[in-house]
Amino acid sequence: MRGLILSGGAGTRLRPITHTSAKQLVPIANKPILFYGIEDMARAGITEIGIVVGDTGDEIRAAVGDGSRFGVSVTYLTQDAPRGLAHCVLIARDFLGDEDFVMYLGDNMLEAGLSGFVANFEAERHGGGRLPLDGSGSEAGAVAQILLKEVDNPKAFGVAEVGADGEVVRLVEKPEVPPSNLALVGVYLFDPLIHDAVRAIEPSARGELEITDAIQWLIDQGHRVRHEVLQGWWIDTGKKDPLLECNRWVLDTIKTSLRGELDETSSVEGRVVIEEGARLVRSRVRGPAVIGAGTVLRDSYIGPYSSIAAGCEIVDSDIENSVVLEQSRISGIPRLADSLLGRNTEVFKSGLRPSATRLMLGDHSHVDLE
Ligand code: TTP
Repeated sequence: MRGLILSGGAGTRLRPITHTSAKQLVPIANKPILFYGIEDMARAGITEIGIVVGDTGDEIRAAVGDGSRFGVSVTYLTQDAPRGLAHCVLIARDFLGDEDFVMYLGDNMLEAGLSGFVANFEAERHGGGRLPLDGSGSEAGAVAQILLKEVDNPKAFGVAEVGADGEVVRLVEKPEVPPSNLALVGVYLFDPLIHDAVRAIEPSARGELEITDAIQWLIDQGHRVRHEVLQGWWIDTGKKDPLLECNRWVLDTIKTSLRGELDETSSVEGRVVIEEGARLVRSRVRGPAVIGAGTVLRDSYIGPYSSIAAGCEIVDSDIENSVVLEQSRISGIPRLADSLLGRNTEVFKSGLRPSATRLMLGDHSHVDLE
């Protein structure tokens, strides 16, 4: 079995962070989202992974390399433009060969590992299924497996209709009248028949080759598509609030590790990671929280559910429930909460008169003043 991780795309919903960088590399608890997916595949025994990349390909190549640090071998597949999830399968044809594969959206995170999902597909394929429609009489296993999650707002997702015997009978993208509350999670398992499906379908109204249409094609040809309902959390991290939520979930699982320096007036409480070279001066960190390598906290308080990346400087400020990316500087801010700050960001009080809020913001920025 091979792995295919989709890390192209435009990332419009995380602008301005993704004007300059890949949304799959935004860190959760100081580790890029994409790394969690690669590690999950490695744990499931998948060692040949193709990563589909687009405009941000160079940055992704630099971060992931050849995959050896994860114990896998990575092949990069370049997509000229985000032409849809099924288009990614189309361009990965040679890499995938005639093997089954797991397809994973590079900006999704799930609590449950992939191992059980993969093992159940393999067991079912080798254990047989219902009689095929062509009347050949032999038992046919599933050719694809999708992962579903019960959601409150199915209109916002791809939604599956599941038949009485548990088979997927229909998939609809963002339906006006949802046939169920079961949304498609960004993990799929396919056998090589999917290559016929992605060649058979046409682009949708939004101009993309949709994976839902390709799976529907398999169903319409009489093939079995099985599903599993995901237990535990799942996040499509492509927006700020779900990203902060995911950061909270992952921080809830960290173990304390203090590798930086604390002066005698600094303290940590709860589960806290202080990475190498980080320094706390007259500061307090209340976990769960992660402070990145080389980051300096001076006269500051970092509250629960904060991830401060490497090389930051936080002075005379209080921060809570926030994700701050590398090399940022925050100074004189009494309470910064529920925020996502990109790399090399500066937030400070200069004390200049007349006192005023002076901003230089990128396109698509959001500012919520006290
Ligand atoms: P989406 O969230 O569907 O698309 P996007 O990245 O363009 O996001 P936005 O709506 O914010 O502009 O993509 C899911 C994942 O699949 C994401 O990691 C990007 C990747 N992807 C590709 O690699 N190629 C594609 O053609 C598409 C549509 C997505």
